Amino acid sequence: MGSGIAQKIATEGFPVLLLDLDQEKVERGIGIVRRMLDEGVERKVFRPEQAEAILGRIRGTTDWNDLAEADLVVEAVFEDLDVKRDVFRRLGEVCRPEALLATNTSSFRVADVAAAAAHPERVLGLHYFYHPAKNRLVEVVGHAGTDPAAVEAGWASQEAIAKTPIASADAPGFVVNRYFVPWVNEAVRILDDGVADVATIEWAAKQAFGVGMGPFQLMNVTGVPISLHAATTLGRELHPFYAPAKGLVEQVEGGKGDWDLSGEVDESRYQAVADRMMGVVFYVAAALVSEGVGTVEDVDIGARVGLRWPKGPFQMINERGVPEAAELARRVVEPWGLEVPNLIANPGDRHIRIRLVRFEERGDLAYVRFQRPDALNALNVRVGVQLTNAIERARVSGKKGLVLAATGKAFVAGADIKFFVDNLEKGAFEPIYHFARVGHDVFRSLNGKRQPSIARVQGLALGGGCELTLACDFVVVSPKATFGLPETGIGIVPGLGGTQRLPRRIGLPLAKWMVYTGEMVGAKQAVEIGLADEVVDFLDLDEACARYAERGRQPGRKAPQEPPSEEWRPLWDFFANHRVEAILNGEADTGGDPRLERAVKKMGQKSPHALLAAERLLDAGAEMELEEGLDLELDALKEVFLHADALEGMKALLERRRPEFQPLREAVHG
Ligand SMILES: NC(=O)c1ccc[n+]([C@@H]2O[C@H](COP(=O)([O-])OP(=O)(O)OC[C@H]3O[C@@H](n4cnc5c(N)ncnc54)[C@H](O)[C@@H]3O)[C@@H](O)[C@H]2O)c1
Repeated sequence: MGSGIAQKIATEGFPVLLLDLDQEKVERGIGIVRRMLDEGVERKVFRPEQAEAILGRIRGTTDWNDLAEADLVVEAVFEDLDVKRDVFRRLGEVCRPEALLATNTSSFRVADVAAAAAHPERVLGLHYFYHPAKNRLVEVVGHAGTDPAAVEAGWASQEAIAKTPIASADAPGFVVNRYFVPWVNEAVRILDDGVADVATIEWAAKQAFGVGMGPFQLMNVTGVPISLHAATTLGRELHPFYAPAKGLVEQVEGGKGDWDLSGEVDESRYQAVADRMMGVVFYVAAALVSEGVGTVEDVDIGARVGLRWPKGPFQMINERGVPEAAELARRVVEPWGLEVPNLIANPGDRHIRIRLVRFEERGDLAYVRFQRPDALNALNVRVGVQLTNAIERARVSGKKGLVLAATGKAFVAGADIKFFVDNLEKGAFEPIYHFARVGHDVFRSLNGKRQPSIARVQGLALGGGCELTLACDFVVVSPKATFGLPETGIGIVPGLGGTQRLPRRIGLPLAKWMVYTGEMVGAKQAVEIGLADEVVDFLDLDEACARYAERGRQPGRKAPQEPPSEEWRPLWDFFANHRVEAILNGEADTGGDPRLERAVKKMGQKSPHALLAAERLLDAGAEMELEEGLDLELDALKEVFLHADALEGMKALLERRRPEFQPLREAVHG
């Protein structure tokens, strides 16, 4: 785990020390990283020089004094409380008092580990999932004595390394293992009870949960004794219901090794197996939320991101119907003398509310946070409705500023493409128009109000996400922020105000460059051209948002009439002077400038029809008031979406292939 965590930190651009007991162990750790990176190079995830740079950021050491300057220490020694406490005692001696100290423990309470540290208030849990360089999930765990600022700093540190954090209380199994371990354990109990054999349980669990590996194969892969240990801990700390199944104890103590997965599947046992496995997960998920260990949303994010289940427990509960889900849970836990929590036993409106957008008050600010990290916080109708409600709450809260924030790798990376495709295939445009209308209304409510809006962009802001930032009064970004409008590459145009607000931010020629080429703009460039107001460190994002809130509302911005600097002049002049048709026909002279050549080449991969539509909207908007331009953009959507290039472009994206767009000739004359 330690080498994987080091690899991830280095991959995201930060220097990292890898400390182990002796030089040989240090080298073993670095060797593991090297092999992982080589594999990545082979699979074309990294270029060889990238892999070298990553390795170059990892320095091995056995000298604890090297930790004196560290900002964050993640302990990942083996799971032995005395060893861990000894590590934290020593960290207290060598680290700066402000350093953040984290434990990756799976089974101890963070408080018990922290007690050995000189500054327990700076200790938290950062619980990673195997393999930590690949699996994005991390549970951020404060114990009762952790300074809330330390928890926030821990959270920010994980965003900085492109992790998807969820919050957990300092409770046995935290959020994810609390239901995952019983899920595995129940498989053995089903076997013990003679309901079905290993092959059948394995198959039924895979079918029911939509996963690639069933519980028995998972135990084999991670080591059967680890499952026994995990269930033993939960059983001891929580309730005998969580204790290991008899068969699991026998498998390990009898030295039987791995589970034998062979055998005929008996399909007639499907429902019996699936219902029990579901019942266990439904009960535990509801119990842990009721106890305040985690939220409904974090339970589901944990399953989808950490375990790669296609659906989270609460999504499954809603799909099954809450009363039926509660009944399945009751059948499993009643024999153990447990009660099904009210959350599912007596649901008020008969379904569990899963919030894709969360509202919270923090100091002087109202935060509206997207929390669909595994879908890159993509916009859809449900998100739109929840966003509207959350903004409404922020407005009435009377707070000084409204901050739009997100968790995970993306701020908001566009809209649900599948929703568009499904509707277009049915020949239905109305739902798409409705989605855009809702989006336009929400975005219009953001700018120029008494309570200024600030986009806090910590990752990808693409398509609708980029347009959302354009609608805000201010845009504050971290070094990992990236902006882009890829729409013309999938046969459509920016339809949530992008064709109108972008030129008013960065000038018409650069707006054309972004829309026509889909080129990505990094944080520093974004500030340079006016897409963003300031780039700050991850840890300083919230403080920066507070500063911008103090400035009050920002009246509509005036479109710049000059390039931001001489460096941008060639692009500026090129797009100011050439029309789409001329560029596509090769009639626009690039003078051999590589940036222009690249732009022309990129435009050659886009839908000519979408490019021409974008040009019309951009040019027309320049002659109008913003509000009028926005109406124009909305009105143009139908023609764009009903053109064959739209369906082709979006389907190609979903099918991961190159789209085949109609040629320019037809786009112009057809
Ligand atoms: N393996 C998993 O899937 C997983 C997942 C989440 C969390 N965890 C947790 O991560 C931690 C590490 O697990 P692992 O599987 O990587 O263990 P491991 O035994 O593979 O690695 C532990 C490393 O710590 C080093 N070490 C031991 N004592 C040390 C000390 N005093 N100072 C410095 N280094 C020391 C060892 O030499 C070894 O390199 C455990 O707390 C475990 O519960 C593991």
